[in-house]
Amino acid sequence: MNIAIAGAGYVGLASAVVLAHVGHQVVCVDVDEAKIEQLKKGPCPIHEPALPELMAENLSRLTFTTDYAVAYSNTDAIFIAVGTPEKADGSANLSYVFAVAEQIAASVTCDCVVIVKSTVPIGTNEKIEQHLKSHLKHDVTIEVVSNPEFLSQGTAIRDMLYGSRIVVGTESESARQVMANIYENLEQPVVFTDRRSAEMIKYASNDFLALKISYINEIANLCEVLGANVEDVARGMGMDPRIGDKFLRAGIGYGGSCFPKDTKALHWLGNFHDHELKTVKAAIEVNENQKLRLIKKARKYYDSFEGLIVAVLGLTFKPGTDDLREAPSLVNIPIMLDSGAKVKAFDPCGVEKFKRKVSGNIIYCDTPEETLKDADICFILTEWPEVLELQPVHFLTMKRPIILDGRNCYDPGGMEGYPLVYDSIGRTVVSYLD
Ligand code: UDX
Repeated sequence: MNIAIAGAGYVGLASAVVLAHVGHQVVCVDVDEAKIEQLKKGPCPIHEPALPELMAENLSRLTFTTDYAVAYSNTDAIFIAVGTPEKADGSANLSYVFAVAEQIAASVTCDCVVIVKSTVPIGTNEKIEQHLKSHLKHDVTIEVVSNPEFLSQGTAIRDMLYGSRIVVGTESESARQVMANIYENLEQPVVFTDRRSAEMIKYASNDFLALKISYINEIANLCEVLGANVEDVARGMGMDPRIGDKFLRAGIGYGGSCFPKDTKALHWLGNFHDHELKTVKAAIEVNENQKLRLIKKARKYYDSFEGLIVAVLGLTFKPGTDDLREAPSLVNIPIMLDSGAKVKAFDPCGVEKFKRKVSGNIIYCDTPEETLKDADICFILTEWPEVLELQPVHFLTMKRPIILDGRNCYDPGGMEGYPLVYDSIGRTVVSYLD
């Protein structure tokens, strides 16, 4: 089939590459000329494992352009995969989605299906369809289908090739057939439903996962008070198939491009309809506090950050990505800097983006070992492999080896006997420092 994809961001590009891989002829459209030029010339501008390789393998079925009029004019299907960032009030900003809808309406010259992959509030697919129909320049039939994505950064290609399900929201039999054809070479169960339910599946899934994380983080904080071990608690809970063992890793809170935005958007939508989602509100609040957990712990060891050297291991919101969106580092490091600390930071991928967002007394180091040297305290914010590989002895080059671990990277038992403090999330503090 001939497919156009609006948006060469992370979701659009991963979708384009996988759809080309399963045999479709795909054109990826973006208004950002520099990005399109880079996609044509390489290297791939998005940091995502397996994406550059799969892109290179499928270049015969993949093109990139800024010329949306040509790309949309004569195609079987158009995916909308542009961003829906958070507005100041927490609601989703739909301006990019509607801008694309206008371009589609102005350009299509034959019947086609418009597939909304962007995460949009419940009811938006209907509005997009009305908008398209009222702006169409040619006499064609357009149907709008909801098809949310469930890609995680770092595993996007695998998630799309071997996902747990494909959700398709449409009430039209012909659109349903087009969707079945698009995905026929991906062996995944397809959930066919109406558009509003498909839109809700996306938000409800992300918000449930966020809720699960906030729940285990609250339990972890209570474990610390009561002397229980949250890792064992999560393992014991997770063995119950009704609960499941995923997304029960306690830590410094969730970040990224989806959970923070999608929890706030659904909460906003509920309030707008006079139906507050109290559980989602709690997940948001717990997460905001959790991001400050290590700052609070630091007060046990120092009255202030003034004059301290703080080693920070990890800047990105999770390993395997250069993405900093809603990363705990963006909250923690400014607090340290404002309180007079000098920060030494390590991150294998996120440094360049971090430099654009935060400035001040920060030295960037190439290795965790170099970062730790002479530090007064260490904050672990991302569980990169380079950080997981560290041994207790590596922390002994610190001026005072006080390790605050926001990702529970090490077994506290392995820290026993070393002259250090190891203070993690939801587990007993190991302390052998004078
Ligand atoms: C998420 C969803 O998983 C994906 O389905 C959706 O399409 C987009 O949002 P992503 O943001 O890439 O994907 O990352 P994910 O691996 O889900 O992690 C999100 C955040 O939660 C990270 O900050 C991670 O560190 C945190 N997390 C995750 C925990 O703190 N504990 C866990 O047990 C799992």
